[in-house]
Amino acid sequence: MVATTTKSFNAAQGPAPDIIGGNLLSLRRDPLVFTLNNMLHYGDIVPLKFFKMDAYQINHPDLIGEVLTKRYGEWHKSFVYKFILADYVGDGLIISDGDFWRRQRKLIQPAFHTMRIQAYADTMVDYTQQLLDEWQSGETRDISDEMMRLTLWIVGKTLFDADLSGASNQIYQAVTDMLHDVSSESRAVIRLPQWIPTPLRMRKKRTNQIFNDIIVPIIEERRKTGEDTGDLLSMLLLSKDENGEGMDDKQVHDEAVTLVLAGHETTSNALTWALYLLSQNPDIEQKLYEEVQSVLEGRTATLEDIRKLPYTEMVLKEAMRVYPPVWNIGRMPLEDTELGGMQIKQYAPVMISIYAVHHDERWYPDPEKFDPERWTKENESKLPKYAYMPFGGGPRICIGNAFAMMEATLILASIVQKFTLSLVPNHPVVPEATVTLRPKYGMKMTITKR
Ligand code: HEM
Repeated sequence: MVATTTKSFNAAQGPAPDIIGGNLLSLRRDPLVFTLNNMLHYGDIVPLKFFKMDAYQINHPDLIGEVLTKRYGEWHKSFVYKFILADYVGDGLIISDGDFWRRQRKLIQPAFHTMRIQAYADTMVDYTQQLLDEWQSGETRDISDEMMRLTLWIVGKTLFDADLSGASNQIYQAVTDMLHDVSSESRAVIRLPQWIPTPLRMRKKRTNQIFNDIIVPIIEERRKTGEDTGDLLSMLLLSKDENGEGMDDKQVHDEAVTLVLAGHETTSNALTWALYLLSQNPDIEQKLYEEVQSVLEGRTATLEDIRKLPYTEMVLKEAMRVYPPVWNIGRMPLEDTELGGMQIKQYAPVMISIYAVHHDERWYPDPEKFDPERWTKENESKLPKYAYMPFGGGPRICIGNAFAMMEATLILASIVQKFTLSLVPNHPVVPEATVTLRPKYGMKMTITKR
């Protein structure tokens, strides 16, 4: 039975802080176990210490709804994420706040309009087929790398109308370095002053230079011709606010990098975890295959097929419950405030561990079990709002939500139609929680043609 929410929140003392760093070392050591244990042992709102600073973890869907929706104007993105991402994305949507964020969101939203993104379905399927044409039956591949390549190709084409599927290209390396460096920075407990030229900062500079060298000429060229090439960048360049003003070139650049950063590894991780979970659950994989076969009847997938693939969607939803590609989001209040009966100081970091909430027995009996049946219409309707939020929630919900679901459904159906994947024996599957939740040692799988 799925419980309903209650209005009283249990709050206790949080976990004992260490002498150095408070709870920060435990959090960095194993973020998933740390936040899950906090939820299990300390209740709906858990006080923490980051060094001497008060911080909190909130675990109840009602509290999460208050922060993300009801009182969202009182909260900004937490400074930790700003610190990690700003060097790449400047004032990009993912970390901007207040009126500036509101304007940008309005300007970017049309690029993600259903009609607009539906035009990308063929690109998604074509690149998937190109990847699958490379796969040989019996060989072993790192499926995490494969999904990264594929989602980058798709981002390149849909964002810039650029074909990135060539064997070696600078942008592939730059994006890989960026994702790597973002995750290293997110694990750091102590941050050195910005002026110290660490190897990581030197590489960051190089990566940004590569982005500039590639993106700036494209923007200049598009400005000159004023052409709508049908990609997301065209929309960013053409979009106007109510005063008839658009974004300047720097802002278009920042938003383009934001979309690459936010839209590439997340979708790739969702697919990698889904393929892993299917390999561990042959009955579910068989049921999925039967759905795909009966709908596609051997032909390639199209946009129209998506609504006929409900089980494929259930599998993806359940995979993102068990392994949410963005495992945690952070906010901070702009003023001293009250939440769930606790006084919270201005700018105190508040964590929402999507991973912990997705593993709460109150909403998900036997939470470790991979069970797509949780996502039948009937079962889903029993869940409280904000008990499931792979894409966040409220006005700042993922802008690429529908794009990602469309992409993941088409890719998963196309793979399952042709191949069955099994984990290489003894390959260690270890989720690593940085900004995203990725398999630490990749995902070595053997590919067998059906
Ligand atoms: C499975 C894939 C994806 C997952 C799980 C995911 C998850 C999320 C989450 C949880 C947030 C909210 C962060 C917060 O509230 O702090 C978010 C925001 C965002 N996502 Fe995604 N995302 C995915 C794919 C994409 C794609 C494909 C794009 C674009 C092409 C994208 C672009 C963004 C942007 C720009 C934001 C910031 C929105 C704002 O603050 O207004 N994401 N995403």
